[in-house]
Amino acid sequence: MNVLLLGSGGREHAFAWKIAQSNHLNALWIAPGNAGTAQHGENVALNPLNFDEIARFVREKNVDMLIVGPEEPLVKGIADYFALQPDLNNLIVIGPKANGAQLEGSKDFSKAFMLRHGIPTARYQSFSPQTLEAGKAFLSTLNAPYVLKASGLAAGKGVVIPETLVEAEAELEAMLGGKFGEAGNVVVIEEFLPGLECSVFVLSDGKHYFLLPEAKDHKRIGEGDTGLNTGGMGAFSPVSFCDEAFMEKVKSRIIRPTLAGLIAEGIEYKGFIFFGLMNIQGEPYVIEYNCRMGDPETEVVLPRIENDLLEVFRAVGDGTLDKLEGRISRKAAATVVTVSEGYPESYQKGFAIAGLENVSTAQVFHAGTTLKEGKVLTAGGRVLAFTGMGDSVAEALSNSYEGIRQVCYDNIYFRRDIGKGF
Ligand code: AMP
Ligand code: GLY
Repeated sequence: MNVLLLGSGGREHAFAWKIAQSNHLNALWIAPGNAGTAQHGENVALNPLNFDEIARFVREKNVDMLIVGPEEPLVKGIADYFALQPDLNNLIVIGPKANGAQLEGSKDFSKAFMLRHGIPTARYQSFSPQTLEAGKAFLSTLNAPYVLKASGLAAGKGVVIPETLVEAEAELEAMLGGKFGEAGNVVVIEEFLPGLECSVFVLSDGKHYFLLPEAKDHKRIGEGDTGLNTGGMGAFSPVSFCDEAFMEKVKSRIIRPTLAGLIAEGIEYKGFIFFGLMNIQGEPYVIEYNCRMGDPETEVVLPRIENDLLEVFRAVGDGTLDKLEGRISRKAAATVVTVSEGYPESYQKGFAIAGLENVSTAQVFHAGTTLKEGKVLTAGGRVLAFTGMGDSVAEALSNSYEGIRQVCYDNIYFRRDIGKGF
């Protein structure tokens, strides 16, 4: 198979690494990719949001499968675009059409969807600039802390959790006043759910689903889960509090009703659904849906899947995921992300990374790197993800941290407490 993978982060490096192990691979291109993806295929300078440019490449190279890593092209309709090209009707696209991607692209849509289908989530209401006063009144009916979410895509930054009512009212005004641009034209205000957060992933072929290993990530920049939210500073899998009883509830109350709801609403969903969940004393609630895999969760989920990934993706294209036997490793996986000091705010890039060839205890996935004159340079806030494996999460983590010790670059920062206490 000829495969084109869109994206440039650690998630895409992990996909490229796993796809390169497939017996069915002929050629792999990554657009635009990074220095890590270049080890497993050819990086091509295409913009994932320029669908005409991607279609030209797909035709020229006889691409059989298009895998969309990030959410933005999905929310903007890349799968719809390709479905409308009659000469490309054999192309398998991994990722939903825009109507399915709304699960992530519009929190207003996803909350109403959950309500329609009886899927457990936090109580909420949506507000616009015209209903600011009603929003303040709704806030006063809730207990602290308050959860305010820009409805549209805001690059993972659109959720604010103020501690006091005064701060929450000011935040609501700022969001409806354009703080997050168009994404904040509608703001969802919801009840705060106290519990343990985890991520569950399925791949859907429109009728059936394949359950991937669950994971837990660490979103805050600082140790002890303090400071600003980031894309994710580390993750591990399996997650001890996602035991069998909990996962059965997740399947019966969340996964199956979500897929049945999509079908009932005429939404054909072929791609990943990432369920951001809260475990409240053993009961699962949905915090959010994403229409893609998580990053850095992918860096611990894929290493635990023993199936040939292109066989899994082909079954998505054929609608035969029910025939596929999932093989999940009993090993634990953990990943620790090294970032550039200053992330998630401003940071410098362009520093040389040394020692990558000395890492033997972990698989290094590149998140934000670039190749220049044969050297690997930092090119992002999140730079590298070190995935270790082991018989336990603790052993996997010790392999990740041992890997980090071999590598250095200017302004490196990472959390030393990933997975601690779990
Ligand atoms: P989201 O982008 O919706 O995942 O929200 C970002 C983060 O905010 C989540 O990972 C949670 O840690 C937190 N969060 C979002 N909604 C809630 C909620 N209703 N209760 C508690 N925490 C929440
Ligand atoms: N790590 C969280 C996400 O990918 O949204």
